[in-house]
Amino acid sequence: MTVHFIGAGPGAPDLITLRGRDLIASCPVCLYAGSLIPRAMLDWCPKDARIIDTAPLDLDAIIAEMQGAHLAGQDVARLHSGDLSIWSACGEQMRRLDALAIPYSVTPGVPAFAAAAASLKRELTLPGVAQSLVLTRTSGRASAMPEREKLATFAASGATLAIHLSIHVIDQVVAELTPFYGAECPVAIVFRASWPDERVLRGTLAEIAEQVRSSGLERTALILVGPALGAEDFGESALYATGYDRRFRPGGGL
Ligand SMILES: C[S@@+](CC[C@H](N)C(=O)[O-])C[C@H]1O[C@@H](n2cnc3c(N)ncnc32)[C@H](O)[C@@H]1O
Repeated sequence: MTVHFIGAGPGAPDLITLRGRDLIASCPVCLYAGSLIPRAMLDWCPKDARIIDTAPLDLDAIIAEMQGAHLAGQDVARLHSGDLSIWSACGEQMRRLDALAIPYSVTPGVPAFAAAAASLKRELTLPGVAQSLVLTRTSGRASAMPEREKLATFAASGATLAIHLSIHVIDQVVAELTPFYGAECPVAIVFRASWPDERVLRGTLAEIAEQVRSSGLERTALILVGPALGAEDFGESALYATGYDRRFRPGGGL
């Protein structure tokens, strides 16, 4: 028996991995994390599977479900949105399973920032503009930010920022970033990337908060900030340059 933690991707059912889909189809128990998992994915569960929305459950209750399945010798598909390596709360579940000697596996998923970049049709690391992407958030009720991880600390680098869980504090985000990026810095906000009701707002730091207010959109949004969101005059990577000598194109293909 194994608990399979599966990154379910950003929302579109066909953005889960084949491995994730096959695991869902093979597990008689499926625990899924509430509002961000598309219901269509649950159709892949075996007929008669025990399917539980964990949104109303606490950690003890979730682990009790896994323990129950363990005792019954039943594999569990545990679905979380996006990828499991960021803000999935799977760390605490895995720690409990370690303590109980219940085996588990982890299957990665498409994270929301990647889906948002795809919707925007933008590369977030452009030569000579930005070569780093910071995945971050602001403090929330569930998790405070460590003192040294202030937005301003990351903003000082000028890197592209992908700010999660923060659309409700867009004014604060703008105020903290403007001294570093300038009021004209491009911003894109993607609501529910890859879902049928996906929405995109584009503007500058000076404009974006007003756009958010007039859109009426409040949840499940990624705020992307940095010069890479708008740059057109970036350099070309040397990787595909004529004459660039590399292992798979010795002599630069000449
Ligand atoms: C609890 S975190 C989960 C992140 C997830 N594990 C991932 O890999 O992207 C939820 C936050 O991720 C972002 N998010 C998740 N899905 C999204 C989507 N489809 N479109 C835009 N943002 C999304 C939002 O900032 C949301 O508040």
